[in-house]
Amino acid sequence: MTTSTGFDIRRIGGRIGAEILGVDLSGDLDPAIVTEINSALLEHKALVFRDQNLDDAGQLRFASLFGELTTAHPTVPSVEGQPQILPVDGDEGIRANRWHTDVTFVRTPPKASTLRSIVVPPYGGNTLIANSAAAYRDLPEPLRELADKLWAVHTNDYDYAAPKNDKAAEHRKRFVSRKYRTAHPVVRVHPETGERGLFIGGFAQSIVGLGPSDSRDLLRIFQAYVTRPENIVRVTWTPGDVVLFDNRITQHYAPDDYGDLPRLLHRVTVAGDVPAGIDGTHSHALEGDDASHYTPAAS
Ligand SMILES: [Fe+2]
Repeated sequence: MTTSTGFDIRRIGGRIGAEILGVDLSGDLDPAIVTEINSALLEHKALVFRDQNLDDAGQLRFASLFGELTTAHPTVPSVEGQPQILPVDGDEGIRANRWHTDVTFVRTPPKASTLRSIVVPPYGGNTLIANSAAAYRDLPEPLRELADKLWAVHTNDYDYAAPKNDKAAEHRKRFVSRKYRTAHPVVRVHPETGERGLFIGGFAQSIVGLGPSDSRDLLRIFQAYVTRPENIVRVTWTPGDVVLFDNRITQHYAPDDYGDLPRLLHRVTVAGDVPAGIDGTHSHALEGDDASHYTPAAS
C-alpha cells in the first residue's frame, strides 16, 4: 500500500514484518512521514529499510525520531567513542541464537531497537523476528487465562550454556558484571495500541510463585506459541539495510549458521516505558534496580 506521504509499505510476512520503500533515512524526515513510519511499526512490528547505507550518526538520528535513546547496554561496552551504539558481531560464543526481547532484565526495557548491517555473510546470519501478540491470540482460552495472571522474573544472569571459548567466557563475565532481576507481567499491554502480547523470552527465567521445574515447563509452553513459524518473519541482510522493530511486542533470534564468516551490525535502542499488565500493575525491579546509567524511563 502507498501511504498519504507517498512511501510504500510492502508486507513480507503473513503476521509480522513489512518493507518500507521510497524513504531515504539519511535525509531530514518530514514529521508526517515519521508518524506514518511509527503507525507502520505499530501495525507490522518489524520494518525493513533496504539499501540505506547510514553511518553511525545517521542511525542515531533515525532512532532518535522515535524517542530518547538508551546507552548501548547496561553492562556490555559500546562501540568505541559511540556510547549509544552496541556492536552486534558474530564472535563465536556470543551469538544471539536464543529467542529474546532486548534487555528485559531491567525495569524499562527498550521501546524499539534499530539494527544496521555493516558486514554480512554471503549466506545465513539472518535475523528472525516473532510477533508475540499473535502468539497470545493463538493461545487456547484456558492457557490465555492462565497467562493473564502470571508474572515472570527476568534476569541477565540466566542459565547460559557453558562458554565455548575464552572470548565467550569473558563476554559472559561482563554481561553479568552487574546483576539485574525484574518482575514483568507475562501478558503485557502495549502502551500505544492496547494490544496484548506474551512478554517473556530468553531472560525470563522463572514464574513468580512457582518452582524452577513448573516455571520452565510453563515458559516452554508459552514460548512455543511465540516461535511458531506462522508468527515469524525472517530478515535476510544486505549491507546497508536498517531494521526497526517494536521491542515491546516481539522477540528475535539470530541463527548461528554462518560458521566463522564475519558479521557486524550496529544496534541503537530507543528508551521504553515501564511495562504494565492487564490489570494495570507495572513491572518492578527485584535486584539491581538502578539502570539509570543505561536508560531514561520514557513516559
Ligand atoms: Fe537482541
